[in-house]
Amino acid sequence: MDTRLIGVFDSGMGGISILREMTRILPGESFLYYGDNANAPYGTRPKEEILRLSRGVVSRLLARDIKALVIACNTATSAATETLRRELTLPVIGVEPALKPAALYGGNGAILVLATPATLRLEKFARLMEQYGQRALPVPCPGLMEFVERGETDSPALHAFLKELLSPYRGTDVAACVLGCTHYPFVRRAIERELPGVPMFDGSEGTARQLKRVLEQANLLSGAANGQVLFDSSDASALPRMRALYEMEL
Ligand code: DGL
Repeated sequence: MDTRLIGVFDSGMGGISILREMTRILPGESFLYYGDNANAPYGTRPKEEILRLSRGVVSRLLARDIKALVIACNTATSAATETLRRELTLPVIGVEPALKPAALYGGNGAILVLATPATLRLEKFARLMEQYGQRALPVPCPGLMEFVERGETDSPALHAFLKELLSPYRGTDVAACVLGCTHYPFVRRAIERELPGVPMFDGSEGTARQLKRVLEQANLLSGAANGQVLFDSSDASALPRMRALYEMEL
């Protein structure tokens, strides 16, 4: 039994989509969510910068005596997980675009993979593409996470942005769409409006299940009936929006 906190971080609000799933699957665990909102976005930065920022966040979380680390950000996972796993002794869980379940789902059409430019550029994604990418079409979405950061999940500006981004694929043979950035589940409905009938895949449930497995194997489960969820941010003004996204009906 280990009731210490599980540290979770993202460049901003996006990882809350993973946090929601983790608290559903592991209600007895306590989580400390850290959003690096002051430095968001990560996805348009070079790899070294994303690694440097991730290290800064991790040292803050380690100071709170966390028992495991969840990198609830596809971009930071791609840029920093291998290094952080070498540097840290605690379990490190990352997230990747849910291309595998989308590819196994069936159909012959294209699989759109919406993600940040960094996620789609880094080696981790190239390896995923080698295995499951035969039908994948990477769609970099710079500018999309900012809508979620502002708490804008259903505005005319968001719909116009998505219309422009996705109109080339509308009416073509699209079998699935992967939400390869943890911010995007918060704008899933707006994305669905542009791609009617296309099934959406994200990594939240897979990551939460992976965390559960890792905690079980390392004998780190809390054993408590109910855990707590704490929020912290490099930009304190983001905290109320973070709590609102955590509570929001999707
Ligand atoms: N939430 C992030 C991800 O999953 C990154 C967004 C960003 O900072 O650009 O990739």
